Amino acid sequence: MAIAKADVESLVEELTLEEKIQLVHGAVDPEGTATGYLPGVERLGIPELRLADGPLGVRVNGAPATLFPASIALASTFDPELAREQGTAMGREAKARDQDALLGPGLNLIRVPHCGRNFEYYSEDPVLTAAFAGASVEGIQSADVIATPKHYVANNQELYRASVNVNVSERALRECYLPGFEAAVDAGAGSIMTAYNSVNGSFMSENRPLVTDVLKGEWGFDGYVVSDWFGAVSTVSSANGGLDLEMPGVSRDELWEMFDIEPPEDDDDTVFGETKDVSDGMPDMTNTGNFAEPLREAVERGDVPRARLDDMVTRILRQMERIGAFDEDRSEVSAEDDGHRELAETIAARGAVLLENDGVLPLADDVDIAVIGPGVEEISTGGGSSEMDALHEVPTATGIDARANGTVTVKRGVPPIEKVSFFGGDDEDDDQQPEPTLDDAVSAAADADIAVVVVEDAAAEAVDRDDLTLPGGQNELVEDVAAVNDNTVVVVQSSGPVELPWRDDVSAILESWYPGQADGDALAAVLFGDADPSGRLPVTFANEDDYPVTDDATFPGTDGEVQYDEGLLVGYRYFDATDADPVYPFGHGLSYAAFEYRDAELVDDRRVEVTIENVSDRTGRDVVQAYVRPSNASDDRPVRELGGFTAVELPAGETVTVDVDLDDLAFSAYDETAGWTALEGPFTIEIGRSARDIEFEVTL
Ligand code: BGC
Repeated sequence: MAIAKADVESLVEELTLEEKIQLVHGAVDPEGTATGYLPGVERLGIPELRLADGPLGVRVNGAPATLFPASIALASTFDPELAREQGTAMGREAKARDQDALLGPGLNLIRVPHCGRNFEYYSEDPVLTAAFAGASVEGIQSADVIATPKHYVANNQELYRASVNVNVSERALRECYLPGFEAAVDAGAGSIMTAYNSVNGSFMSENRPLVTDVLKGEWGFDGYVVSDWFGAVSTVSSANGGLDLEMPGVSRDELWEMFDIEPPEDDDDTVFGETKDVSDGMPDMTNTGNFAEPLREAVERGDVPRARLDDMVTRILRQMERIGAFDEDRSEVSAEDDGHRELAETIAARGAVLLENDGVLPLADDVDIAVIGPGVEEISTGGGSSEMDALHEVPTATGIDARANGTVTVKRGVPPIEKVSFFGGDDEDDDQQPEPTLDDAVSAAADADIAVVVVEDAAAEAVDRDDLTLPGGQNELVEDVAAVNDNTVVVVQSSGPVELPWRDDVSAILESWYPGQADGDALAAVLFGDADPSGRLPVTFANEDDYPVTDDATFPGTDGEVQYDEGLLVGYRYFDATDADPVYPFGHGLSYAAFEYRDAELVDDRRVEVTIENVSDRTGRDVVQAYVRPSNASDDRPVRELGGFTAVELPAGETVTVDVDLDDLAFSAYDETAGWTALEGPFTIEIGRSARDIEFEVTL
């Protein structure tokens, strides 16, 4: 039974206590498709609710979907319109697979380069993160699917994520870690997922100051707050703190069954059957059902007010109403033929960051190429809950081979990189292939016009990278290849910054992150110049020891406590403050075209106009970046902050004037007693190609 349109308030009045409880904790999905499931209440025509991971595509058991590039690749485009398009595509695919909510986007700031989930996040910069957060949420929800920005807040590492207490100043929270979430709320996000960790002494699932006071109070968020999976640590404190929905709400064993996964043999040290120890990064999976019977008892005892339970239910039902879940004719959408495949390729190509190029790229059509690397016969991805079945995979070498006119020789060079996967099984093909050798790779490289070496890291949810070194002998592979071929191009497929010790010995370096299902096609388009690699770094690349978080207290923490001692000085802000040289600064990225900035003028106090000319003989894409530098920058104020940016495509020889809007965040400071205060000017607005390459300055 279904009703045409629900009047949420009167529905809530009709629900019994048991039925309300049934609507605030997850259950087993009888269809076995969803990551999280609510059964609804048939008696009153309240339908089921299905939630699916997120955030790189829709993970639905048994129904492959478009696997988009990693979020960090999307952010590298500096083009939020692409986030809106990707969001729309994912929303439509979710709906076509009978899912009502998507568990994404991931909005945590990239604080530590080691974090295993950096690929699911956008940037080290709050203004960039906020722009992508808003656009992504609007896109997803335009398809009548609930977006679930996650993980609120300060989930900036995977190691001990379920137990660590983050000690962070109110100011750093406000100026760095919260703006992405606030932008998502402003964009109308229907749900927010809490982080596992605790912040300033209170677990996020029961953090009243941040959930009830800031999110629901100050920002006026009227959607529902859902726990991370097995992350609702209590009953009374969580409900009274503002958590509305507990997920998954079922036992581990039921979960194995739901995902059709063999239960792990050793429950303590394995996750989803994996042998690699990820237990330090996993929640206590016996912690479940806190919003089931225990919540009913707490409400009956009066420990959780009935009005609070009604509010929890109301928030959930209101979102269901908003997406049309009660409408009988909730439209069927087809997803596969909507250009999503092309969109995934476009984003992968535009998000590729050309770090170095001595002129070897773009390649001529007829060159002979040796494609070398341990993962070139697959697409490169990260592990964890964002893993999914891609609709149409084009492995790296396949895409290059299809595009090239010359001979393409493929060699792996070193054994496959060991990765953590939550859902993938053993790849039996690997076992049947002959063991790759360095010698084979080097001789193929010596015989080719061009050597393309594709290197990768291994990153996953629940584990942080031990260091920023490329694993599995890949540095040696690059060095040996570069020694025999003067046209060596290195393609880096990584979750975030990695060290590139051979960077002076190769001809070009392209950071293509985890490019998603279009991996090989997008890479071929960039290498041969069909697409301009217009990505810019959304994170600073530096040597490992030069990042601000180098002692245990700041990462990964000691005795369960981690100190965000760097305060506001996250990412490039730290490098500016200490005058340290990054290897590649925030915002860096080359183009095949060449641009000159002709003029920059302030239109008003939040907008600057920049005139730019493409002085090359080919169409290209540029990203105009505007940094705000307060004249009275004091010790505790960043030297410069990204104020705004505009991506533009410009044909050969043309000149255009673009607007760059400046975000208030770059002109304000948060004071713990006075709240938000406007910084005193004057300000210098720096127009540049990166945080370290400023072309124009205008005074405001
Ligand atoms: C992750 C979430 C994810 C959830 C459901 C958790 O382990 O932290 O990001 O949405 O699982 O798969």
